[in-house]
Amino acid sequence: MSTSVIHLVLLPFLFFLLLLLPIYSTAQNYKNITLGSSLTAGVANTSWPSASGDFAFGFRPTFQDNLFLLAVWFDKIPDKTIVWFANDGDKNQGEIQIHKGSKVELTTDGKLIMNDPQGNELWSAGEVSADYAAMLDNGNFVLASRSSADSLWESFKYPTDTILHTQTLKANGGLYSRETKYSYSKGRFRLRLLEDGNLVLNVAAYPSSSEVHYDAYYLSDTVNNDSQKAGYEAVFNQSGYIYVHIRDGTKKLLSYTNILPIRDVYYRATLELDGVFAQYSHPRSKNEEQVWTTVWSVPDNICVDIYTTQGTGACGYNSYCILTAQQRARCVCPPRFSLVDPNNTYGGCRPDFVQGCQLDEWPTKKDSFELETLNNVDWPTSDYDKLGYYGIEECRTSCLSDCLCDVAIFRDGTCWKKKLPLSNGRDNGGTTGAALIKVRKANLSEPNCDFPQPPEEKNNEMNDRSTLILVGSLVLGSSVLFNFIFLARALYHNSLAFLVCFLTDKKLKEKTKDSSFLRSSLRSFTYQELEEATNGFKDELGRGAFGIVYKGLIEEQEMDSICSVAVKRLDKVLQEGEKEFKTEVNAIGRIHHKNLVQLLGFCEEGQQRLLVYEFMSNRSLADHLFGNSRPDWKQRFQIALGISRGLLYLHEECSTQIIHCDIKPQNILLDDSFTARISDFGLAKLLMTTQSRISTITGIRGTKGYVAPEWFRNTPVSAKVDVYSYGVMLLEIICCRKGVVQELGEEDVKAILTDWAYYCFSQGKLEDLVKDDEEVMNDMKKFEKLVMIAIWCIQDEPSLRPSMKKVMQMLEGVLEVSVPPCPYQFNTNDGSYSEPDYV
Ligand SMILES: *[C@@H]1O[C@H](CO)[C@@H](O)[C@H](O)[C@H]1NC(C)=O
Ligand SMILES: *[C@@H]1O[C@H](CO)[C@@H](O)[C@H](O)[C@H]1NC(C)=O
Ligand SMILES: *[C@@H]1O[C@H](CO)[C@@H](O)[C@H](O)[C@H]1NC(C)=O
Ligand SMILES: *[C@@H]1O[C@H](CO)[C@@H](O)[C@H](O)[C@H]1NC(C)=O
Ligand SMILES: *[C@@H]1O[C@H](CO)[C@@H](O)[C@H](O)[C@H]1NC(C)=O
Ligand SMILES: *[C@@H]1O[C@H](CO)[C@@H](O)[C@H](O)[C@H]1NC(C)=O
Repeated sequence: MSTSVIHLVLLPFLFFLLLLLPIYSTAQNYKNITLGSSLTAGVANTSWPSASGDFAFGFRPTFQDNLFLLAVWFDKIPDKTIVWFANDGDKNQGEIQIHKGSKVELTTDGKLIMNDPQGNELWSAGEVSADYAAMLDNGNFVLASRSSADSLWESFKYPTDTILHTQTLKANGGLYSRETKYSYSKGRFRLRLLEDGNLVLNVAAYPSSSEVHYDAYYLSDTVNNDSQKAGYEAVFNQSGYIYVHIRDGTKKLLSYTNILPIRDVYYRATLELDGVFAQYSHPRSKNEEQVWTTVWSVPDNICVDIYTTQGTGACGYNSYCILTAQQRARCVCPPRFSLVDPNNTYGGCRPDFVQGCQLDEWPTKKDSFELETLNNVDWPTSDYDKLGYYGIEECRTSCLSDCLCDVAIFRDGTCWKKKLPLSNGRDNGGTTGAALIKVRKANLSEPNCDFPQPPEEKNNEMNDRSTLILVGSLVLGSSVLFNFIFLARALYHNSLAFLVCFLTDKKLKEKTKDSSFLRSSLRSFTYQELEEATNGFKDELGRGAFGIVYKGLIEEQEMDSICSVAVKRLDKVLQEGEKEFKTEVNAIGRIHHKNLVQLLGFCEEGQQRLLVYEFMSNRSLADHLFGNSRPDWKQRFQIALGISRGLLYLHEECSTQIIHCDIKPQNILLDDSFTARISDFGLAKLLMTTQSRISTITGIRGTKGYVAPEWFRNTPVSAKVDVYSYGVMLLEIICCRKGVVQELGEEDVKAILTDWAYYCFSQGKLEDLVKDDEEVMNDMKKFEKLVMIAIWCIQDEPSLRPSMKKVMQMLEGVLEVSVPPCPYQFNTNDGSYSEPDYV
């Protein structure tokens, strides 16, 4: 009696207080749902909101027509992200078919029951007898009784794929991932708090009568023989931290970075379709970008951390996993394979052709197969044979002449032969080795341009391949050549006019003539889509030789989320056919490497040509190197190594060699984990082929210091121009200063870093280069090695420069670095160039 009086008196006052309270209050703001209330799917009154309006409980349409989900979701954000849904336990993989007209009711006797339109029970919250229900402001939907403070049933106790802050997981509790973006069935992944106190991520063999779990691919490490030191619950606490509570009262924090105050952001942690458990935040304020961003996630590398002897890895059978910058899995089918379920990129791939070993064609028709090469890709399990001391040619032959062999992996003289289905596929990034995929030869009428074989006659490439020839200017006679070189080296004049590029591309033409059959995962955007994505091209990220780059937001279909992208608007209007642009862009899009910025899509509409890239949150290397936030010595070394790997990939490991032509710190971007990623690769070629083979690069100003001397000779250029630019940049990275400091003036030996570095090296005074960098001063041996590598790279004579592979091996310490010669050996015909006179 007395309590209800108090309530009656206080109620208006409480409500008034609630209005005054900021909406982020985590107070339990009840907004009671009284007995007899109901909601009907697809009809009016389809949800019960929480008091603050942050969350709602009710029916949501699914991706399938006329089917609904009984769910709890974030109601104030445009995404309306679902955080809980009613499921069927182990029946039908948890999914409940809810048709229009189904009804959820808080019955007069206090049960929460959902019936189909015919009145048959679809789901219930069990045998409870509640006095009221409430959608709480923390996202928990509860059934409660008047007489007890504890709720009788709550959605927090039956989590699906998401937990919210203030939610805990008890022993034997956990989350499951959804099966696909379009379904709410149970998928393959589980997050579980085990009896022994460990929080683990597993792959589950499902459905089976009782779930079988494969080895954990993430462990919180909270087990202990001393039970007082073992974990007992996983907590997502009120401030947004996730930890495992230990019985002795301590906690083991799992997430600890970037935790923003709860008053500013919403949080959730979700077990995603690809097996990653990620915590996200979303700004509450309406005028900020309305997207979920990852705060923290496990495991570190989903592509390799899941490794099962049964079942498949992070990606489905026969596909392979590429780790994205956000530590997520991108699953890719090998050439001539396609998704088993087009709606499920994690569901595995099947061959588009009939495999070998059929009696009527084997061995008579064994030459109806060929091998497609995938560099750096491996399926470490699934082999049935291993051949040692083999060359790649023998490996190819062995697989082609063995009808059981579907794929061969060749690495370091070993050839593993494998049969389908393949599991644990991953792109190993920098490591060498290749997967040879045996595919049935396409019919002649059906050109296969997907994955061209690697160039065969590498030695002839200088004369034969698509080669850039650069001519200083049409009137550039040999008498002014010296001036030109000096200008390029010394850059005391900003007015360096322009350079004209010719491209001899006979060969390229041949390669691409049947491009209409290109298949690619690149997304094609309309101009309007990109205009909207970039908010009318407002947020400029930077300007480069080829155009302006804008920040944008696009919906990513696979991840069911919105992601940031960089949209580059090419400012040269291209005249030639669409086909060539598309061909080139598709070729660029097929290049994947962890040290390259991934091209995601393009737009080609009228005169407009735009490219859509992954967004790199940490801007360019130039911003850091020459700004206030210089990365530490170790990071700088990792960046230099990463760039060398990316360049090596472009030079030697792509199906057709790519010369970057514009390596400089402005073109090296850094992702969230500060990994160096080369941008703009392939553009030199793209813009020069599509534009009548002649292109004028103006505004090359920012690039001058990095240009190799042979650019100014009337000779073909090779990948060694990139090695030169890399050498200049390596000096900048290790010395943290610009290649040219114009303010110092022509006479100062320090003005040009390459000259200054060689001078210091030859005089044995390397400390002078890094006087105020204590970290480097303590590691002079390594510094000297890097300077020597750089001097090798900046040799005037291209043939003296090492290949990128050698550069990488020297950086890695696999190759000894010998003492480099003086870089200035380049003699012009008129002999007018000599070493700087301080030597
Ligand atoms: C639906 O909401 C209206 C007011 O918005 C209310 O009058 C009506 O009773 C509700 N119907 C049900 C079935 O709850
Ligand atoms: C893919 O999902 C869409 C949307 O639910 C559906 O219409 C389509 O039939 C699905 N395709 C396949 C092959 O399942
Ligand atoms: C909700 O209902 C319970 C039980 O009738 C009551 O104790 C509580 O005061 C109600 N809260 C509000 C905000 O109406
Ligand atoms: C726990 O106890 C078992 C059996 O006594 C022992 O083999 C194991 O090494 C212990 N583990 C730890 C972490 O102490
Ligand atoms: C949540 O956990 C963090 C990390 O241990 C702690 O700093 C914070 O005070 C906790 N918040 C609450 C409300 O307990
Ligand atoms: C190749 O052509 C033959 C006969 O025209 C046809 O039966 C076969 O399906 C074709 N193969 C492919 C891979 O299209």
